[in-house]
Amino acid sequence: MRNSKIAGIGHYVPDNVVTNKDLEKLMDTSDEWIRERTGIVERRYFTEGVDTTANMGAEASRRALQMANLEAKDVDMIIFATLSPDYVFPGSGVIMQRELGLKEIPALDVRNQCSGFIYALSVGDQFIKTGMYNNVLVVGAEIHSTGLEFSDRGRGVSVIFGDGAGAVVLSPSESNDKGILSTHLHADGEFAEELAVTAPNSNKKERLTHEMLDDGSVYPYMNGNLVFKHAVTRFPEVINEALEKNGYQPSDVDLLVPHQANLRITSYIQQKMGLPAEKVMSNIHKYGNTTAASVPIALSEAYQEGRIKEGDLVCLAAFGSGFTWASALIRW
Ligand code: COA
Repeated sequence: MRNSKIAGIGHYVPDNVVTNKDLEKLMDTSDEWIRERTGIVERRYFTEGVDTTANMGAEASRRALQMANLEAKDVDMIIFATLSPDYVFPGSGVIMQRELGLKEIPALDVRNQCSGFIYALSVGDQFIKTGMYNNVLVVGAEIHSTGLEFSDRGRGVSVIFGDGAGAVVLSPSESNDKGILSTHLHADGEFAEELAVTAPNSNKKERLTHEMLDDGSVYPYMNGNLVFKHAVTRFPEVINEALEKNGYQPSDVDLLVPHQANLRITSYIQQKMGLPAEKVMSNIHKYGNTTAASVPIALSEAYQEGRIKEGDLVCLAAFGSGFTWASALIRW
């Protein structure tokens, strides 16, 4: 079996910058509260008629393909992770496929929220390992801004999320010491409703009612304290799992790229793993939490900033709604 490697990486974020001060005009919140509790300073929101979940994914993909010196026609499969697809169905993978002018290759949507990109990466990795495909586009893209409640009731959630997209091209690695060394996926559905949007709901006779609009169940609900507690346990656990599986220590890691959930969560992981700040990627201050897009955007920026060199050991990790959590260890 051959390893897969990240042959190209790219990201796209909408032009529209929304600061904490902008949100102060819409709800009872403050720049100080948001910075202190989350580390977020600003985020990007889509522009109607310009940005869609699929076309942001397509733009990130074009950039990743360019870096890999590949053309869209070289892609064998699309795996698209999102919790905010363009439509309820079909998935955004097929829409992005059309956008990129690709015909007949498979397009799979992955619904694993903040862990979605690493789940998707793991699926792509398996297809390359088995020799079934050579070039797999793995995408994470989200438009949160059209699904948030901009009011005092929604403030605990709305200030956190932002829009954007990231993508990688997976291709066969030249050697089995390089590329994706392993991926580790977990889930615990016991907590499914602790971070969720429960409406529209297909178990109700009427899938979408005025009551759902009024009671706020069409907006994300988050038990923030519980999510926080689980996140700070699961992140170190799944990072250590990846390191142990490959015989490494935390000190061997050159760069940790965690899902950008909250700066306090990232700082906690950094301390728990005993890593210096420069070995942990953080860009939440610019984009907020972009869910499935957060890991590939952070990885892409880290690469652009020259923080990843050939031969580096890079660890990706995520935790989120489901609950789901995951990691990937990569020898670059
Ligand atoms: N602005 C101002 N005040 C706010 C606010 C906002 N945007 N949102 C909530 N508050 C208030 C609350 O109403 C509460 O007020 P009270 O004490 O008068 O009741 C107070 O701030 C504290 O709320 P609490 O929810 O306990 O704050 P917290 O310190 O737990 O921080 C989160 C809230 C959401 C930042 C934090 O729980 C968190 O980061 N959780 C994990 C979230 C996450 O990572 N989600 C993504 C999953 S991958």
